[in-house]
Amino acid sequence: MTPIAAHKINLCSQGIALKALFSGYLTVVAIGYIMAMVQIQFTHGMADGKMGLSVDDIVYSYHGKRSGSVIETKLNGSMKLMTSEQNRLKIINWIHKGANEKAFYDTGIREIMNNSCIKCHNEATNLPIPDFTIFENVAARAKTDTGASFSSLARVSHIHLFGIAFIFMFVGLIFSLAAGVPKYLKATVIVIPYVFLVLDITSWWLTKLNPNFAWLTIIGGSMMGLSFIFMWVVSMYEMWVMPRIHSDDRDALQDE
Ligand code: HEC
Repeated sequence: MTPIAAHKINLCSQGIALKALFSGYLTVVAIGYIMAMVQIQFTHGMADGKMGLSVDDIVYSYHGKRSGSVIETKLNGSMKLMTSEQNRLKIINWIHKGANEKAFYDTGIREIMNNSCIKCHNEATNLPIPDFTIFENVAARAKTDTGASFSSLARVSHIHLFGIAFIFMFVGLIFSLAAGVPKYLKATVIVIPYVFLVLDITSWWLTKLNPNFAWLTIIGGSMMGLSFIFMWVVSMYEMWVMPRIHSDDRDALQDE
């Protein structure tokens, strides 16, 4: 009778049932990963108006396109001479402070527009320009795009932290049984997704505050993806290819 201690725990010499279970899980998770990449292209990839994910997309998604209010752009352009410099700055200041309706009346923006803008910007002129006698028309062109809201960031962050930690728990557990990977390399590859998941999610919040952090999001996501691919390929290799070449009597759990 073979003593129990002789049973070596490694991916190569597991029975067909466990290999089928592991492979099924890895396959489904890989498809899920691909779907997540496709989804990112739809939600963030088009943020800068061009196909494909770029640093600009990440900035626009999390930080917003802060130069995006039409009134401000126009007041620095073709509408610059329509009112005094002082009034122009007052309007811009109102937009920067959030363009709220109460301040529109209280800080005299309504008055400035009545005096300087609505002689053209009203329905009666029949010009193809917005009617600024109606507050909603002003507000719609005063909105500063500040990107993702803090509440949506908090929601997406906690879903990602729980969900992705869970996925990498099992991918890492399967990969930890691969005997052919040096122990420190193995431990590093297992830990990378966790470190870069935290970094990735931190970078969303930082990018919301400062657009220069967008590159951190790209690095975080890329490192998670690379370690996922590495663990996936090595695990599949040791389960299905290695047994055809040689047997394996190392114990992966003992770092052999
Ligand atoms: C003499 C007429 C006139 C006055 C006065 C005027 N505008 Fe305009 N405005 C126009 C015309 C014409 C356009 C369309 C051409 C363009 O975009 O430059 C326009 C376009 C705009 C647009 C772009 C609207 C859009 O949705 O594309 C904004 C915003 C705007 N004006 C703001 C203002 C503000 C604010 C004032 C007052 C400080 C003002 N305008 C005063 C004639 C005027």
